[in-house]
Amino acid sequence: MHSEFQYRNINKDNADELKFVAEQDSRIPLQYDPSFPWNEDSITGRLNYFSKEIKDDDFFEVAVLENKVVGFHVVKKVPYAQDIFAGTIITLWTHPEFRGKGIATNLKLRAETWAKSQKLTYLLTNVHVKNPGMFSINKKLGFEVVQYSLRKPL
Ligand SMILES: CC(C)(COP(=O)(O)OP(=O)(O)OC[C@H]1O[C@@H](n2cnc3c(N)ncnc32)[C@H](O)[C@@H]1OP(=O)(O)O)[C@@H](O)C(=O)NCCC(=O)NCCS
Repeated sequence: MHSEFQYRNINKDNADELKFVAEQDSRIPLQYDPSFPWNEDSITGRLNYFSKEIKDDDFFEVAVLENKVVGFHVVKKVPYAQDIFAGTIITLWTHPEFRGKGIATNLKLRAETWAKSQKLTYLLTNVHVKNPGMFSINKKLGFEVVQYSLRKPL
């Protein structure tokens, strides 16, 4: 039905587009972590992060429908071990109206193609325990659990 989704690099020169992505991204943790400290500054924080820390040779793509961003995915190159580089997944999001239509899967497959073209050895990701949908997408696409991430509330 929506095979007309298009995938392209984010346009960082388009302030509205970047702000939309930053705002959606800043809100992601709220859906599974009500204690997450979100406020308006969270948007600015993500804007600064995307502008300064995500480089032109990292992966930052959006899915668009009629010029409207309906999904995004960011993967950053990181050193992993001596002479080994990995891509660490920073974020992935699909607009609620368009979920279940393969947008996240397509973005992840495109990132994987990019990672291979960059000769990266691994893709790394973290998934919140209350986000089983994201966990199962990763498993389906070949990600393996290699470590646990723990935190202690203080
Ligand atoms: C997780 C998310 C990115 C999935 O996006 P999507 O475009 O709907 O995913 P897809 O359509 O590619 O679905 C891929 C598969 O996962 C399944 N799936 C998607 N969301 C699911 C959920 N919440 N629970 C269980 N399965 C789910 C789909 O049914 C599909 O299975 P199939 O291949 O057998 O048909 C989207 O729900 C989202 O944006 N969530 C909020 C942000 C988020 O949690 N991001 C990840 C943390 S950074």
